[in-house]
Amino acid sequence: MKPQHGGNLYQLSKKYNIALGEIVDFSANINPLCFPDGVKRILKEDFNKIRMYPDPDCSQLTDVISDKYNIKKTCLIPSNGATELIYLICYLLRPKKAAIIIPAFSEYEKALSNIGCNIKFVRLKEKEGFKLKLQDIRSIIKSVEVLFICNPNNPTGQKISPNTLYNILHLAKRHNVFVVIDEAFIDLIEEESLVAKAQRQQNLFVIRSLTKFLGIPGLRLGFGVASARLSAKIKNFQPTWSVNTFAQIAGSYLLADSAYIEKSKKILIKERNFLVSELKSIKSIKVFDSCTNFILFKLMGQACLTPTTNNPVGDGHARPVLEDLLISEKIAVRNCSNFRGLDSSFVRVAVKKRDENKLLIKALRNIFG
Ligand SMILES: Cc1ncc(COP(=O)(O)O)c(C=O)c1O
Repeated sequence: MKPQHGGNLYQLSKKYNIALGEIVDFSANINPLCFPDGVKRILKEDFNKIRMYPDPDCSQLTDVISDKYNIKKTCLIPSNGATELIYLICYLLRPKKAAIIIPAFSEYEKALSNIGCNIKFVRLKEKEGFKLKLQDIRSIIKSVEVLFICNPNNPTGQKISPNTLYNILHLAKRHNVFVVIDEAFIDLIEEESLVAKAQRQQNLFVIRSLTKFLGIPGLRLGFGVASARLSAKIKNFQPTWSVNTFAQIAGSYLLADSAYIEKSKKILIKERNFLVSELKSIKSIKVFDSCTNFILFKLMGQACLTPTTNNPVGDGHARPVLEDLLISEKIAVRNCSNFRGLDSSFVRVAVKKRDENKLLIKALRNIFG
C-alpha cells in the first residue's frame, strides 16, 4: 500500500484489522486539542439545517474570516478545503507550463496534470535542509507561467525566509509569472502570511486551509485570498454550495473562539519542541526542525529501507519496517516514499498531545534503542 496522503484511516483499519478509533494517527497533521464544548452544542442545535441548502454566499463565515484575518470580503473565497482552490486556480489559469517546488503536497501535480500542463520540478536539497533559495528558481521562472509554492512546506516543515519570498515575488512579477502560495500550515507563524499582499497584487493567490488547524478535516473548509478581480473570477468557477452548512457553522464558531485558537497555538508549539528534542535523542534518526505542527525525520544507516520480507504488500512496493512495527502498536505515521524528491527513509509525524507524543517516542525507542 503506497499512501497517497496521510490520514487514510479507513484503509489502515481495513488492512490491519484495527478499529478506526483505536489508531493513534500521526499521519495527518490535525489539531489534536479537544473541541470547545460549544461546537457540538451548536451543531446539534442546527441539525435540522441539514434539510436546507447551505448559504451559497457563506455570509456569516465570510464576516468572521474577514474580521479575523483582516481581508476585504471582495478578496475572499471560502472553499471546500484548500484542495478545492488548488483545482480551481489550475482550471481557471490553464497554464501550459508550471513549476512546483518539491518535495510537495501531491495535489498540485495532480491538478496541473489534469489540465495537460507541462510541469517542471524544482528540487529542494536535503543537504541544504530543504531550504528554498532564490537561486533555485532563478532560471526556471523564466520558462513557466505559474509557480506553486507551499509555505511552510509540507512535508519538510521548512519556511521560506520573508526576504527570499519577497525576492521571489519580485522576480515572478518581472517575468509575468503567476504565484500560488499554499499556506495550509502557516498558523503557527501567522505573521508571515501573504494574505495582505494577495489582495493588492494581481499575480498572487494565497490558499489557506482551516481543516487542519481547526481540526475539522471531515467537514472540509478553507479560503483563498486574491485581488477583487481575480476573486470574482474564481468564485464564478466555483460550484455553488461548495462549503456545506456544518463547515460554515463550525468554522465560524471556532474561528471566533480566540481562546481556543491561542491555546491551540501555544500547545502545538510546546509539543512540537518536545517532540523534536525527543526525536533528536534517538540516534538512528535525523530530525529536521519545523515551524509547523508536523516533523520530518530520516531513518539513518541500518534503520532505513529495510523491506518487510514475509509481509508482501498489495501493490508490490516494499515498505520500511518502521511503519509495520509502529502499526502493530496501533500508531500510524506518514511514510514519505511517494513524495517526489524523498524516499522511504523519510517519515513525517504530526504533533499531538503529550501522552500520544510520549507513546510515539516510547515505540521508537523500543525499536531503535
Ligand atoms: C500543503 C497542503 N495543502 C493543502 C492541503 C489540503 O487541505 P484541505 O484539507 O483544507 O483541503 C494539505 C493536506 O494535507 C496540505 O498538506
